Amino acid sequence: MKVLVIGSGGREHALVWKIAQSPLVEKVYGAPGNPGMASLAERVNLPVSDFEGLADFAEAKTIDLTVVGPEDPLAAGIVDFFQDRGLTVFGPTAAAAQLEGSKAFAKDLMRRYDIPTSDYAQFDTSQEAIAHVHEHGAPIVVKADGLAAGKGVTVAQTVDEAVDAIHEIMDERVFGEAGARVIIEECLLGEEASIFAFSDGATILPLVASQDHKPALDGDLGPNTGGMGAYAPAPVITPSLYAEIEATVLQPCVDGLAKDGHPYTGLLYAGLMITDDGPKVIEFNCRFGDPETQVVLPLMASDIVPIMLACCDGTLAERTVETREGACVSVVMASGGYPKSYEKGKVITGIAEADADADLVVFHAGTQTSDEGLLTNGGRVLGVTALGTDIPSAIAKAYEGVAKIDFDGAQYRSDIGGRALERLKG
Ligand code: AMP
Ligand code: GLY
Repeated sequence: MKVLVIGSGGREHALVWKIAQSPLVEKVYGAPGNPGMASLAERVNLPVSDFEGLADFAEAKTIDLTVVGPEDPLAAGIVDFFQDRGLTVFGPTAAAAQLEGSKAFAKDLMRRYDIPTSDYAQFDTSQEAIAHVHEHGAPIVVKADGLAAGKGVTVAQTVDEAVDAIHEIMDERVFGEAGARVIIEECLLGEEASIFAFSDGATILPLVASQDHKPALDGDLGPNTGGMGAYAPAPVITPSLYAEIEATVLQPCVDGLAKDGHPYTGLLYAGLMITDDGPKVIEFNCRFGDPETQVVLPLMASDIVPIMLACCDGTLAERTVETREGACVSVVMASGGYPKSYEKGKVITGIAEADADADLVVFHAGTQTSDEGLLTNGGRVLGVTALGTDIPSAIAKAYEGVAKIDFDGAQYRSDIGGRALERLKG
């Protein structure tokens, strides 16, 4: 089989790495891909937005399965486009991808199908939104309705902060049309976790629970980022919570979307807050998480390709997913200054030395090749990922890998997995 993976980040490197292990797969392509996947996949110089070019390529190369990584092409209908051309593609249609693309759509679905989430209200004018904030007080959460690359959310500790966020979103339109509508939510307290589930529109197959680390600095300080590291399994999700989340969140979401006429195929991501009142949904995403994918896929023992194909042809009920024993930890090495301004083009050394360890794999997120060797080319540069028999050994191994790698200004958190350690200590 030939498989095409669309996207260029750490998530897509991890997808290519996992797909290339399938005995069914003879060739993998990455469009546009990144230098880290070069030994596993042929790179194709097409942007994720070029649906026509990508579908032409898939036809010309008789690609058997296309896997879409990022949310933007999914929300813009790449799956519908490929399906209309008779191509097999893993991901939700644009209608189902509204689950991530419109927070109002997701909230409405959760309300109608009794999926636990924070109380919320939506507003089309800033005056009404501000009046609501004054009525409810802080802490309170303000979100732009549309896709804002993870930056459209303010967890406001004061009313003034919430009002400023509403002005930025609605009146200054700093996120463009994503800010035509605003969602104001109750602030949830607890520990966060992510659960991914494969879906064919009716059956779900969930994967091991993981935890991201969004703030830039140790101790969860500093500005929010795309994610500075992850680990799995997340001990905050006990077996009974896992079963509860399947029954009260994942299955009702897939069933509700099917009932509404938008069957969800692909990978469903539930971002959860484990509160004193039980698990509540913070958000749904319509694709694999980044960097959680980098720790979830190494723990997946089953071949991913037959499961992805089963999501496309509605036969997921015939499949199971096996999980490996042990734990996985990924530490993101970022450019100095990220998530604010940072420089690119710094020479990276030591990746081969880290990769030589059988328990380590270095996923590339923002790198480029040059005559001088490998250079940094983004905010998040690498995800240094380690398998271990347990969380402490995986953490130790990941930081052994980090110590071997160097580039000017490299910044990383030194406490990835810390929450799990605290919980394991009791
Ligand atoms: P989102 O883009 O919706 O995932 O939000 C980004 C981050 O904001 C989440 O990972 C949470 O840390 C935080 N957040 C979002 N919604 C809430 C909420 N209702 N209560 C508390 N924190 C939230
Ligand atoms: N790790 C958060 C996300 O992928 O949205």
